[in-house]
Amino acid sequence: MPSVFIKTYGCQMNERDSEAVAAQLVAKGYSLAPSEAIADVVLLNTCSVRDFAEQKAINKMKNLIGTARNERRSQVVGFMGCMAQSRGQELVDKLPDVDLVLGTQKFHRAAEYLDAILAGKREQIVDVAAEEKSEATIREHLLNGKSNKSVSAFVSIMQGCNQYCTFCIVPYTRGEERSRTIPDIVAECRELVAGGVKEITLLGQIVTSYGKRDYPLHDGKSGFVQLLEAVHEIAGLQRIRFTSPHPKGYGDDLVEAYARLPKLCESAHIPLQSGSDRILKLMHRGYTRERFLAIAKKLRAAKPNIGLTTDIIVGFPGETEEDFAETLSLCREVEFDNAYIFKYSERRDTPAAIMPDQLPQEIREERNHRLLETVNEIGKRKYDSFIGQQVQILVEGPSKKNAARFTGRTRCNRIVLFDGSERHRGELMDLKITRTGSFTLYGDPAIVNL
Ligand code: SAH
Ligand code: F3S
Repeated sequence: MPSVFIKTYGCQMNERDSEAVAAQLVAKGYSLAPSEAIADVVLLNTCSVRDFAEQKAINKMKNLIGTARNERRSQVVGFMGCMAQSRGQELVDKLPDVDLVLGTQKFHRAAEYLDAILAGKREQIVDVAAEEKSEATIREHLLNGKSNKSVSAFVSIMQGCNQYCTFCIVPYTRGEERSRTIPDIVAECRELVAGGVKEITLLGQIVTSYGKRDYPLHDGKSGFVQLLEAVHEIAGLQRIRFTSPHPKGYGDDLVEAYARLPKLCESAHIPLQSGSDRILKLMHRGYTRERFLAIAKKLRAAKPNIGLTTDIIVGFPGETEEDFAETLSLCREVEFDNAYIFKYSERRDTPAAIMPDQLPQEIREERNHRLLETVNEIGKRKYDSFIGQQVQILVEGPSKKNAARFTGRTRCNRIVLFDGSERHRGELMDLKITRTGSFTLYGDPAIVNL
């Protein structure tokens, strides 16, 4: 029985794809290797969003090939996911020892291709072609294969993105928007809940565009809100989240859904990218600073405790000090709980890569640093305000960093650590917050759960 090790780079979509490929391979008789050193097959699930992520995976592969040649001649190695899709054949031209390059619409063929390579029937396979209906193929979960039950699961609702932000490679690596059907998604969620899952996060590159073609507005509700309502019906499911939405998808129907659907957690990760209208336009984002501020205000009016996080790019081509100041001021105004800040990275074939006024690295670094200080200061203040408050968490399991502690999340998606035990897993639990760390809360159950 061959064993496989999958290393994942990048976003939650990639985590989910890796899990689905692993589940598929386990179902076909493969076992999961605890480390790459003893695996018969090593797959790198890659990310292309920034150059740094691509370089990490390429260096890892060089490393694997070097070791495989010396110590493990028969080890099969492959790339899958976004970089596999965008570079395809070029990867094996550069690294001829790579056995498999599997694109983003081909995950469901992993077992078939690996079987052929392991059996010596095929030497090398590169498949990055588009495939109709591939959005519906990412549905296997590993729940039953894990020794510990998962409380929380990710469900992929769509693939691709048609927004074509000028900096972004995703529309090229993930293709056109393609949505799964509501009954198909609901069936997958039901199975997960039957297996013990309490919280489901709906995933896609631009979830607010879900079902645009197949589910027209109904009673003023978008396809995405129709999906949220359908998932909300599932008995036994406690919490619903989603990522990532697009600001332009925050119509009143979605804002109202937060107020109306109790299982929908009051947290939202809404990518901002920039606080300057001029830069937002150059980025082809499709909203203004004012519109973004209005969304944050409406959400807070509907759910005063909502947790808001965002993504921001600093150093986009032509970004002036004034543009950057607009981003800083917007962050101060909205007071995000956290913001993921990225230095602009040129991606090939994207319009922004050939825009004039590409900024020197030092400016990107410097703005990154300044924005981070602002975001951290606001985040700390917001986290500190939790001290003394009572919150409800869904207990996920032992903390990865410190197995003596247990971890869970509040509805507004803040991580809470506490002294718990296995019996708490999967429970909704009330805690009192006693202190805070860096984007972490520490809670004490004893006070409220006697
Ligand atoms: N809609 C997707 C976007 C994926 S990329 C999602 O949120 O999952 C994730 C984040 O990476 C983007 O929101 C953006 O802030 C950042 N990013 C994308 N392309 C980038 C680039 N060329 N340089 C720097 N950061 C980038
Ligand atoms: Fe990328 Fe913009 Fe879509 S950031 S994933 S093109 S919404």
